[in-house]
Amino acid sequence: MSNPNSLYARIGGEEGVIRLVQAYIQALKTLPEVQNLRNIYPKDLSKYESRMVEYLSTWLGGPALYQARHGLPMLRETHRHFPIDSEARDEWMLCMRTALEQTIDDADFRLYLEGAFWRMADSLITK
Ligand code: HEM
Repeated sequence: MSNPNSLYARIGGEEGVIRLVQAYIQALKTLPEVQNLRNIYPKDLSKYESRMVEYLSTWLGGPALYQARHGLPMLRETHRHFPIDSEARDEWMLCMRTALEQTIDDADFRLYLEGAFWRMADSLITK
């Protein structure tokens, strides 16, 4: 872990990122409120899971795994194939908020990440 002050270090490095992504996917698969969101994902989420871990590792200031393995992450491009409205954003955020609550004890840090995720999700709205 190169920078001990990075968000990546604070979340607990690779293990922390994996924990967050797995909790997010569990919420996506099970929360009754996110049926519409669930429908736009493929049934097999294994590729999604590894790409989320790689992407978030980079995004949180850890190793640039996504770039190393797949080139520049172009999130607007990868999200272009399905329309994202404010309901989809809110369902996505419900899953992420649930995952953050389950995996991050430090309330200030959790709130900070929630804000950062919200801004990212909001920027992906296409309609
Ligand atoms: C705003 C609501 C969002 C919706 C509805 C959404 C939906 C999706 C869907 C359906 C996929 C494709 C899964 C697959 O085919 O395997 C995907 C991929 C992905 N999403 Fe999102 N997403 C949202 C927000 C976000 C946010 C906020 C982030 C990052 C913080 C993110 C990161 C990713 C990544 C890294 C991938 C994989 C890209 C790749 O295949 O290279 N998404 N998303």
